[in-house]
Amino acid sequence: MGYIFASVVITAYLVCLPPVHCMITKDTGVCGSTKSCYSIPDGCNPDVAGSCRAFSSWSLTADNTSLLINLWSNTTTYIALGFSKSGEMKDSDVYACTFDMEVLRSRNEEDENDNFPQELIGVTNPSVMFDQGIISCSFLRVLENDTYDDTFFDLTCPNKYTPILAWGGAVRDSRIFEHTDRGHGHEEISFDERCSSGNGLHPSTKLHGPVIFFALLSSFLVIFFQ
Ligand SMILES: *[C@@H]1O[C@H](CO)[C@@H](O)[C@H](O)[C@H]1NC(C)=O
Ligand SMILES: *[C@@H]1O[C@H](CO)[C@@H](O)[C@H](O)[C@H]1NC(C)=O
Ligand SMILES: *[C@@H]1O[C@H](CO)[C@@H](O)[C@H](O)[C@H]1NC(C)=O
Repeated sequence: MGYIFASVVITAYLVCLPPVHCMITKDTGVCGSTKSCYSIPDGCNPDVAGSCRAFSSWSLTADNTSLLINLWSNTTTYIALGFSKSGEMKDSDVYACTFDMEVLRSRNEEDENDNFPQELIGVTNPSVMFDQGIISCSFLRVLENDTYDDTFFDLTCPNKYTPILAWGGAVRDSRIFEHTDRGHGHEEISFDERCSSGNGLHPSTKLHGPVIFFALLSSFLVIFFQ
């Protein structure tokens, strides 16, 4: 019995418990080791009730061509991740997941905050869930597209952008409108992990080692004392 219990503890930790976000579609991995994360507040965990207002993570696919992006928010309208050249809403390439389970692309122009719908190119495998006031989604976004215009930002190394999260506005006719809240990173980062080491967006990493150590230790104690 003790051995079974220990196995369950270890498996649950490795597969599902924080900081692994098992609740989110396809969002496995650990912030700071197998994926990068940006969230509001910093370092929050969407698996813990009341922890997050908005969460994003991304990792490079094995073929180095795309980012697997996950977004989460407790909102009934949309959650959007923008790649920003200005550090603010202006001049951003924006990807939103909506309550009616669409992925939308839009652009904020260089000189204004208004958001204009764009053709959804470069996005595959979309999966959007809306359940009990929470939107979570995942999709692949190609790093670059040489044949498209420069509204489609080139995310390859060494280009850097500031991540922006916005949520809680309105969605009408496949278009997102004024967010009710947002936040942006404090610095430009590389989304292409081939040159993003040390970008400072990895708050959960430090917990991982000690937690796994204690999970293993308690499992062995259970085996020993049964
Ligand atoms: C979302 O979660 C945050 C953090 O717990 C909370 O402050 C906020 O009120 C929630 N918003 C909604 C719309 O539930
Ligand atoms: C992807 O990039 C990594 C790091 O530069 C490299 O080691 C790996 O061989 C690349 N994979 C492919 C399929 O190009
Ligand atoms: C690149 O953009 C073109 C349109 O210019 C589009 O047809 C094509 O599907 C895009 N490629 C990828 C990989 O998204």
